[in-house]
Amino acid sequence: MDTPEKKKVIFSAIQPSGTITLGNYLGALRNWVKLQDDYNCIFAVADLHAITVRQEPKKFRENILNAYALLLACGIDTEKSLFFIQSHVHTHAELAWVLNCYTQFGELSRMTQFKDKSLKHADNVNAGLFAYPSLMAADILLYRSDMVPVGADQKQHLELARNIAERFNGVYGNTFTVPDPYISTVGARVMSLQDPTKKMSKSDENVNAWVAVLDKPDTIMKKFKRAVTDSEAEVRVGEGKDGINNLIGIMSAVTGKTSDEITEEFEGKGYGDFKTAVAEAVIEEVKPIQERFDDYIKNKDYLAEQYRKSAEIALKISQRTLDKAMKKIGFIAK
Ligand code: TRP
Repeated sequence: MDTPEKKKVIFSAIQPSGTITLGNYLGALRNWVKLQDDYNCIFAVADLHAITVRQEPKKFRENILNAYALLLACGIDTEKSLFFIQSHVHTHAELAWVLNCYTQFGELSRMTQFKDKSLKHADNVNAGLFAYPSLMAADILLYRSDMVPVGADQKQHLELARNIAERFNGVYGNTFTVPDPYISTVGARVMSLQDPTKKMSKSDENVNAWVAVLDKPDTIMKKFKRAVTDSEAEVRVGEGKDGINNLIGIMSAVTGKTSDEITEEFEGKGYGDFKTAVAEAVIEEVKPIQERFDDYIKNKDYLAEQYRKSAEIALKISQRTLDKAMKKIGFIAK
Protein backbone atom coordinates (compact mmCIF):
# COMPACT_ATOMS: atom_id res chain seq x y z
CA MET A 1 0.00 0.00 0.00
CA ASP A 2 1.20 3.47 -0.79
CA THR A 3 1.72 5.64 2.19
CA PRO A 4 0.44 9.12 1.45
CA GLU A 5 3.36 11.47 1.13
CA LYS A 6 3.55 13.80 4.08
CA LYS A 7 2.83 17.35 3.05
CA LYS A 8 5.71 19.74 3.40
CA VAL A 9 5.43 22.49 5.99
CA ILE A 10 5.36 26.11 4.86
CA PHE A 11 5.61 28.96 7.35
CA SER A 12 5.14 32.64 6.77
CA ALA A 13 4.11 35.71 8.71
CA ILE A 14 3.18 39.30 8.10
CA GLN A 15 3.63 42.30 10.35
CA PRO A 16 0.50 44.19 11.42
CA SER A 17 1.63 47.49 9.97
CA GLY A 18 -1.79 49.02 9.48
CA THR A 19 -1.91 48.87 5.70
CA ILE A 20 -1.79 45.86 3.46
CA THR A 21 -0.95 47.03 -0.02
CA LEU A 22 -1.80 45.68 -3.43
CA GLY A 23 1.90 44.75 -3.56
CA ASN A 24 1.60 42.61 -0.41
CA TYR A 25 -1.52 41.00 -1.83
CA LEU A 26 -0.37 40.24 -5.37
CA GLY A 27 3.22 39.53 -4.36
CA ALA A 28 2.63 37.35 -1.31
CA LEU A 29 -0.81 36.85 0.21
CA ARG A 30 -2.52 35.60 -2.90
CA ASN A 31 0.16 32.94 -3.21
CA TRP A 32 -0.24 31.92 0.41
CA VAL A 33 -3.89 31.27 -0.31
CA LYS A 34 -2.99 28.95 -3.19
CA LEU A 35 -0.33 27.11 -1.18
CA GLN A 36 -2.92 25.96 1.33
CA ASP A 37 -4.06 23.02 -0.82
CA ASP A 38 -0.66 21.51 -1.43
CA TYR A 39 1.22 22.21 1.76
CA ASN A 40 0.80 22.10 5.47
CA CYS A 41 0.65 25.88 5.90
CA ILE A 42 1.26 27.81 9.08
CA PHE A 43 0.69 31.56 9.02
CA ALA A 44 0.93 34.21 11.70
CA VAL A 45 0.37 37.89 12.33
CA ALA A 46 3.83 38.83 13.60
CA ASP A 47 2.83 41.25 16.35
CA LEU A 48 5.94 40.60 18.48
CA HIS A 49 8.05 41.80 15.57
CA ALA A 50 6.08 45.03 15.35
CA ILE A 51 7.16 46.41 18.73
CA THR A 52 10.73 46.92 17.55
CA VAL A 53 9.33 50.32 16.65
CA ARG A 54 7.09 52.22 19.08
CA GLN A 55 3.37 51.43 18.75
CA GLU A 56 0.42 53.38 20.05
CA PRO A 57 -1.54 50.75 22.08
CA LYS A 58 -5.03 51.41 20.72
CA LYS A 59 -3.85 51.65 17.13
CA PHE A 60 -1.62 48.60 17.57
CA ARG A 61 -4.52 46.49 18.86
CA GLU A 62 -6.62 47.60 15.91
CA ASN A 63 -3.85 46.88 13.40
CA ILE A 64 -3.36 43.33 14.70
CA LEU A 65 -7.03 42.48 14.48
CA ASN A 66 -7.41 44.17 11.10
CA ALA A 67 -4.48 42.24 9.70
CA TYR A 68 -6.00 39.00 10.98
CA ALA A 69 -9.42 39.77 9.52
CA LEU A 70 -7.99 40.94 6.22
CA LEU A 71 -5.94 37.79 5.72
CA LEU A 72 -9.03 35.69 6.39
CA ALA A 73 -10.86 37.87 3.87
CA CYS A 74 -8.09 37.23 1.34
CA GLY A 75 -8.70 33.51 1.68
CA ILE A 76 -6.51 32.17 4.48
CA ASP A 77 -8.63 29.29 5.68
CA THR A 78 -8.31 28.00 9.24
CA GLU A 79 -9.84 24.69 8.16
CA LYS A 80 -6.82 24.09 5.94
CA SER A 81 -4.06 26.02 7.67
CA LEU A 82 -2.99 27.23 11.06
CA PHE A 83 -3.36 30.98 11.29
CA PHE A 84 -2.63 32.60 14.63
CA ILE A 85 -1.35 35.72 16.35
CA GLN A 86 2.33 35.31 17.18
CA SER A 87 2.18 36.67 20.75
CA HIS A 88 -0.52 34.11 21.61
CA VAL A 89 1.98 31.29 21.25
CA HIS A 90 4.57 31.83 23.95
CA THR A 91 7.12 29.40 22.53
CA HIS A 92 8.11 32.02 19.93
CA ALA A 93 9.54 34.43 22.48
CA GLU A 94 11.11 31.56 24.42
CA LEU A 95 12.93 29.98 21.51
CA ALA A 96 13.95 33.45 20.32
CA TRP A 97 15.85 33.95 23.59
CA VAL A 98 17.56 30.60 23.21
CA LEU A 99 18.50 31.32 19.59
CA ASN A 100 19.84 34.74 20.55
CA CYS A 101 22.54 32.86 22.42
CA TYR A 102 23.47 31.02 19.22
CA THR A 103 23.50 34.10 17.00
CA GLN A 104 26.55 36.28 16.70
CA PHE A 105 26.65 40.03 17.19
CA GLY A 106 28.57 40.29 13.92
CA GLU A 107 25.90 38.40 11.97
CA LEU A 108 23.10 40.59 13.25
CA SER A 109 25.15 43.72 12.58
CA ARG A 110 25.38 42.75 8.92
CA MET A 111 21.60 42.61 8.38
CA THR A 112 20.78 45.34 5.88
CA GLN A 113 17.30 45.84 7.33
CA PHE A 114 18.83 46.55 10.75
CA LYS A 115 21.21 49.06 9.23
CA ASP A 116 18.37 50.78 7.36
CA LYS A 117 15.98 50.80 10.29
CA SER A 118 18.53 52.02 12.79
CA LEU A 119 19.17 55.02 10.56
CA LYS A 120 15.45 55.62 10.20
CA HIS A 121 14.70 55.26 13.92
CA ALA A 122 17.97 56.68 15.22
CA ASP A 123 16.35 57.66 18.53
CA ASN A 124 15.20 54.09 19.26
CA VAL A 125 17.80 51.56 18.15
CA ASN A 126 16.67 48.98 20.70
CA ALA A 127 17.97 45.47 21.32
CA GLY A 128 14.76 44.02 19.86
CA LEU A 129 15.38 45.73 16.53
CA PHE A 130 18.84 44.21 16.56
CA ALA A 131 17.73 40.71 17.58
CA TYR A 132 14.63 40.65 15.34
CA PRO A 133 16.12 38.03 12.96
CA SER A 134 16.49 35.47 15.75
CA LEU A 135 12.80 35.88 16.62
CA MET A 136 12.02 35.30 12.96
CA ALA A 137 14.28 32.23 13.01
CA ALA A 138 12.34 30.96 16.05
CA ASP A 139 9.02 31.44 14.19
CA ILE A 140 10.27 29.32 11.35
CA LEU A 141 12.23 26.64 13.22
CA LEU A 142 9.53 25.90 15.82
CA TYR A 143 7.33 24.25 13.17
CA ARG A 144 10.14 22.32 11.43
CA SER A 145 9.25 24.34 8.37
CA ASP A 146 10.55 23.00 5.07
CA MET A 147 9.96 26.18 3.14
CA VAL A 148 9.39 29.86 3.71
CA PRO A 149 7.95 32.11 1.01
CA VAL A 150 9.77 35.39 1.42
CA GLY A 151 10.34 38.47 -0.65
CA ALA A 152 13.75 39.85 -1.46
CA ASP A 153 13.73 42.05 1.66
CA GLN A 154 13.53 39.01 3.96
CA LYS A 155 15.97 36.72 2.15
CA GLN A 156 18.90 37.71 4.31
CA HIS A 157 16.91 36.93 7.47
CA LEU A 158 15.95 33.51 6.13
CA GLU A 159 19.57 32.82 5.27
CA LEU A 160 20.45 33.66 8.87
CA ALA A 161 17.72 31.31 10.15
CA ARG A 162 19.32 28.53 8.10
CA ASN A 163 22.74 29.32 9.54
CA ILE A 164 21.41 29.31 13.09
CA ALA A 165 19.66 25.97 12.53
CA GLU A 166 22.76 24.41 10.99
CA ARG A 167 24.97 25.72 13.76
CA PHE A 168 22.67 24.36 16.48
CA ASN A 169 22.37 20.99 14.72
CA GLY A 170 26.15 20.92 14.38
CA VAL A 171 26.63 21.28 18.12
CA TYR A 172 23.74 19.12 19.41
CA GLY A 173 22.82 16.78 16.58
CA ASN A 174 19.77 17.04 14.38
CA THR A 175 17.22 19.27 16.12
CA PHE A 176 15.90 21.79 13.62
CA THR A 177 14.81 21.40 10.02
CA VAL A 178 16.86 23.73 7.84
CA PRO A 179 14.30 25.76 5.86
CA ASP A 180 14.55 26.54 2.16
CA PRO A 181 13.24 29.69 0.56
CA TYR A 182 10.06 29.08 -1.39
CA ILE A 183 10.47 30.78 -4.72
CA SER A 184 7.11 31.47 -6.21
CA THR A 185 6.81 31.25 -9.96
CA VAL A 186 3.78 33.47 -10.16
CA GLY A 187 4.06 36.28 -7.60
CA ALA A 188 3.94 39.71 -9.14
CA ARG A 189 6.47 42.30 -8.06
CA VAL A 190 4.37 45.41 -7.77
CA MET A 191 6.25 48.68 -8.04
CA SER A 192 5.49 52.17 -6.76
CA LEU A 193 2.96 54.04 -8.88
CA GLN A 194 5.02 57.21 -8.46
CA ASP A 195 8.53 55.83 -8.86
CA PRO A 196 8.22 52.51 -10.68
CA THR A 197 11.88 51.68 -10.14
CA LYS A 198 11.08 51.15 -6.44
CA LYS A 199 8.96 48.44 -4.84
CA MET A 200 5.45 49.53 -3.78
CA SER A 201 5.64 50.26 -0.06
CA LYS A 202 3.17 51.73 2.39
CA SER A 203 6.01 53.54 4.12
CA ASP A 204 6.39 55.69 1.01
CA GLU A 205 5.75 59.31 1.97
CA ASN A 206 3.73 59.86 -1.17
CA VAL A 207 0.37 58.12 -0.59
CA ASN A 208 -0.20 58.04 -4.34
CA ALA A 209 2.69 55.60 -4.63
CA TRP A 210 0.73 52.72 -3.18
CA VAL A 211 -2.76 51.24 -3.23
CA ALA A 212 -4.14 49.51 -0.15
CA VAL A 213 -6.34 46.44 -0.47
CA LEU A 214 -8.89 48.32 1.65
CA ASP A 215 -8.74 51.59 -0.32
CA LYS A 216 -12.14 52.81 -1.51
CA PRO A 217 -12.86 52.41 -5.25
CA ASP A 218 -12.58 56.14 -5.99
CA THR A 219 -9.24 56.30 -4.16
CA ILE A 220 -7.95 53.37 -6.19
CA MET A 221 -9.12 55.05 -9.39
CA LYS A 222 -7.48 58.34 -8.44
CA LYS A 223 -4.16 56.71 -7.56
CA PHE A 224 -3.99 54.78 -10.82
CA LYS A 225 -4.92 57.84 -12.84
CA ARG A 226 -1.97 59.65 -11.28
CA ALA A 227 0.43 56.77 -11.95
CA VAL A 228 3.69 57.81 -13.56
CA THR A 229 4.11 56.56 -17.15
CA ASP A 230 6.25 57.67 -20.11
CA SER A 231 5.83 59.93 -23.10
CA GLU A 232 5.45 57.20 -25.70
CA ALA A 233 1.74 56.41 -25.35
CA GLU A 234 2.05 52.76 -26.30
CA VAL A 235 0.77 50.04 -24.01
CA ARG A 236 3.56 47.48 -24.32
CA VAL A 237 6.34 46.08 -22.17
CA GLY A 238 9.59 47.84 -22.98
CA GLU A 239 12.82 49.29 -21.72
CA GLY A 240 12.52 52.69 -20.10
CA LYS A 241 8.80 52.07 -19.65
CA ASP A 242 8.91 51.10 -15.97
CA GLY A 243 5.57 52.72 -15.19
CA ILE A 244 3.70 50.98 -18.00
CA ASN A 245 5.53 47.71 -17.36
CA ASN A 246 4.29 47.88 -13.78
CA LEU A 247 0.70 48.63 -14.82
CA ILE A 248 0.79 45.77 -17.33
CA GLY A 249 2.15 43.51 -14.59
CA ILE A 250 -0.69 44.48 -12.26
CA MET A 251 -3.29 44.08 -15.01
CA SER A 252 -1.89 40.68 -15.88
CA ALA A 253 -1.84 39.58 -12.22
CA VAL A 254 -5.47 40.50 -11.59
CA THR A 255 -7.00 39.40 -14.90
CA GLY A 256 -4.78 36.42 -15.74
CA LYS A 257 -4.17 37.89 -19.23
CA THR A 258 -0.67 37.81 -20.69
CA SER A 259 1.15 41.05 -21.46
CA ASP A 260 0.77 40.34 -25.19
CA GLU A 261 -2.99 40.02 -24.81
CA ILE A 262 -3.06 43.28 -22.91
CA THR A 263 -0.96 45.05 -25.54
CA GLU A 264 -3.31 43.82 -28.23
CA GLU A 265 -6.40 44.86 -26.32
CA PHE A 266 -5.10 48.42 -25.86
CA GLU A 267 -3.63 48.96 -29.27
CA GLY A 268 -4.37 52.47 -30.46
CA LYS A 269 -5.71 53.48 -27.04
CA GLY A 270 -4.08 56.07 -24.80
CA TYR A 271 -2.61 55.69 -21.35
CA GLY A 272 -5.68 57.34 -19.83
CA ASP A 273 -7.92 54.51 -20.99
CA PHE A 274 -5.41 51.92 -19.89
CA LYS A 275 -4.99 53.37 -16.41
CA THR A 276 -8.77 53.46 -15.97
CA ALA A 277 -9.02 49.83 -17.07
CA VAL A 278 -6.27 48.74 -14.66
CA ALA A 279 -7.97 50.58 -11.81
CA GLU A 280 -11.30 48.97 -12.66
CA ALA A 281 -9.76 45.51 -12.73
CA VAL A 282 -8.10 46.11 -9.35
CA ILE A 283 -11.34 47.45 -7.86
CA GLU A 284 -13.11 44.32 -9.09
CA GLU A 285 -10.42 42.09 -7.55
CA VAL A 286 -10.50 43.71 -4.10
CA LYS A 287 -14.27 44.17 -3.88
CA PRO A 288 -15.11 40.71 -2.52
CA ILE A 289 -12.15 40.91 -0.15
CA GLN A 290 -13.40 44.23 1.20
CA GLU A 291 -16.89 42.82 1.65
CA ARG A 292 -15.63 39.81 3.57
CA PHE A 293 -13.35 42.05 5.65
CA ASP A 294 -16.31 44.24 6.65
CA ASP A 295 -18.15 41.12 7.83
CA TYR A 296 -15.24 39.64 9.76
CA ILE A 297 -14.21 42.81 11.50
CA LYS A 298 -17.72 43.23 12.88
CA ASN A 299 -17.63 39.72 14.26
CA LYS A 300 -14.98 39.81 16.99
CA ASP A 301 -16.17 36.54 18.54
CA TYR A 302 -15.72 34.70 15.29
CA LEU A 303 -12.21 36.14 14.88
CA ALA A 304 -11.29 35.14 18.43
CA GLU A 305 -12.55 31.62 17.84
CA GLN A 306 -10.35 31.31 14.76
CA TYR A 307 -7.13 32.66 16.22
CA ARG A 308 -7.54 30.76 19.48
CA LYS A 309 -8.19 27.47 17.75
CA SER A 310 -5.03 27.82 15.66
CA ALA A 311 -2.90 29.10 18.54
CA GLU A 312 -3.77 26.08 20.64
CA ILE A 313 -2.57 23.66 17.98
CA ALA A 314 0.46 25.82 17.16
CA LEU A 315 1.46 25.74 20.81
CA LYS A 316 1.39 21.94 20.91
CA ILE A 317 3.52 21.59 17.78
CA SER A 318 6.00 24.29 18.72
CA GLN A 319 6.34 23.14 22.34
CA ARG A 320 7.72 19.82 21.16
CA THR A 321 10.47 21.54 19.20
CA LEU A 322 11.26 23.94 22.02
CA ASP A 323 11.43 21.10 24.59
CA LYS A 324 13.71 19.10 22.34
CA ALA A 325 16.10 22.02 21.84
CA MET A 326 16.16 22.86 25.55
CA LYS A 327 16.77 19.27 26.55
CA LYS A 328 19.73 19.08 24.18
CA ILE A 329 21.22 22.20 25.69
CA GLY A 330 20.97 20.64 29.15
CA PHE A 331 17.94 22.31 30.72
CA ILE A 332 16.06 20.15 33.19
CA ALA A 333 12.68 18.93 31.96
CA LYS A 334 9.63 20.21 33.84
N1 TRP B 1 9.84 39.75 9.21
C1 TRP B 1 8.80 39.54 8.26
C2 TRP B 1 8.43 40.87 7.59
O1 TRP B 1 8.66 41.91 8.14
C3 TRP B 1 7.58 38.95 8.90
C4 TRP B 1 7.92 37.66 9.54
C5 TRP B 1 8.02 37.41 10.87
C6 TRP B 1 8.20 36.44 8.88
N2 TRP B 1 8.33 36.11 11.10
C7 TRP B 1 8.46 35.48 9.89
C8 TRP B 1 8.26 36.07 7.52
C9 TRP B 1 8.80 34.18 9.58
C10 TRP B 1 8.60 34.75 7.22
C11 TRP B 1 8.87 33.82 8.24
O2 TRP B 1 7.89 40.85 6.50
